[in-house]
Amino acid sequence: EKCDVGLYGLAVMGQNFALNMASHGFKVCVGNRSSSKVDTTVERAKNEGNVPVVGAKEIEEFIARLSKPRKVIILVQAGKPVDQTISKLSALMEPGDIIIDGGNEWFPNSIRRAEDLTQKGIHFIGMGISGGEEGARNGPSLMPGGPKQAYDLLAPIFEKCAAQVSRTGPCVGYLGPIGSGNYVKTVHNGIEYGDMQLIAEVYDVMKTILKMDNEEIADQFAEWNKTELDSYLIEITEKCLRKKDDMTDGYVVDKILDKAGMKGTGRWTIQEAAERGVAAPTMAAALDTRLLSARKEERVAASKIFSSPSVDESIDKARVVDDLKAALYASKICSYAQGLSLIKAASDEFNWNVDLSECARLWMGGCIIRAKLLDSIQQAFSNDPDLDNLLVDSGLSKEIIDRTPAWRRTVALCTTSGIACPSLCGSLTYFDTYRRERLPASLTQAQRDFFGGHTYERIDMNGRFHTAWTDAHRDIGDVNHRV
Ligand code: 6PG
Repeated sequence: EKCDVGLYGLAVMGQNFALNMASHGFKVCVGNRSSSKVDTTVERAKNEGNVPVVGAKEIEEFIARLSKPRKVIILVQAGKPVDQTISKLSALMEPGDIIIDGGNEWFPNSIRRAEDLTQKGIHFIGMGISGGEEGARNGPSLMPGGPKQAYDLLAPIFEKCAAQVSRTGPCVGYLGPIGSGNYVKTVHNGIEYGDMQLIAEVYDVMKTILKMDNEEIADQFAEWNKTELDSYLIEITEKCLRKKDDMTDGYVVDKILDKAGMKGTGRWTIQEAAERGVAAPTMAAALDTRLLSARKEERVAASKIFSSPSVDESIDKARVVDDLKAALYASKICSYAQGLSLIKAASDEFNWNVDLSECARLWMGGCIIRAKLLDSIQQAFSNDPDLDNLLVDSGLSKEIIDRTPAWRRTVALCTTSGIACPSLCGSLTYFDTYRRERLPASLTQAQRDFFGGHTYERIDMNGRFHTAWTDAHRDIGDVNHRV
């Protein structure tokens, strides 16, 4: 009997996703470049007592074991290994077969691969998978983009294996043509960076300004997790803070070197934001902060030159904590607003027709950014798919307005205390810029026209205009004119 689906690439994500599918009764064939992991996976499936997983040690056998049209999920390292795997597999596949790449991939690579495979009649799906190893095993969020008819053949499998949310169903759904799934996953990761940075800033205020200890801070996050801030990242923050070190005394978090690493998806989001002309200050601040954090030695040297301002001792701790909660929530809304605007811009540019309420729905379970807020976001975009910006949704705008004073006090406190809060502040700045009818961009335009003759538009007349700003301009023959 042939297998329903093949999974090639058996690092942790691959193994766990294979076991996930098997545990839902699908017959899975697994393959890997080095065959020892094939044995491990088959063994793990046996121990779990599910439908047996079939191991194939040669790629020919792997392909031969699959029912047609063949469906192969690949979970290998992004970049070259994906190209190599696709070329080996596709040589043995037939028109109508489907390859699904489940890695974090730069979306143009998926578009390029799809073009190559289309010539062979093979369908290609680029599918973001979020939720780490645990998600892969027990229910990830799946973000597929590719040919719809190919997705439809996979939907019965994916809908069973994805995280399940009671109100909204499985965290998988068709997002759009090739590239769109990878794009949504990339932005998911940008939002992930923003959320993590916002939480880190709040932690910094509690620790450095309020002098709270790890247990007290953990208690606070635990309490917040029962409110509108309920999210996976808040939940794990509490756990991270409470973890005692078993190598020495004290807490693990206090022993960790303060240099943040990254694999690159957050950077892609910011590159793309610039490319699409979408402001993403909250996520950009998160990236900048990781970059600065990595320069530990320079920071140590700088800390010897510059001291911190003294912290106000008369601070009302309970009020600051309440303010932080409000600031965190309002900032988070702004960050998601930026991410969704970016997806919208790309979707418009590439004619993907991505449904933003569907994006929010896929993120409601299984993934790293799952959060209660996504309920409101999903509703906002299902009420109005053409919403200009999440901030102006009637429900969310009220939530922001209520929190504005506390949000401003928080950013002000950080600033006077010399504690950087780039993402809280980036979000507030985004809000304060977006909400204003008139901006000083008028002056920017004047300067551009002054030094470069770049022209400007007016608020009172149609057309483009240029001004001869000074005698020096007129001396070289410059004149006022309408273009
Ligand atoms: C997920 C995560 C996952 C991975 C990130 C980490 O959704 O499950 O986002 O994809 O852990 O890529 O990213 P950095 O290494 O860039 O922090």
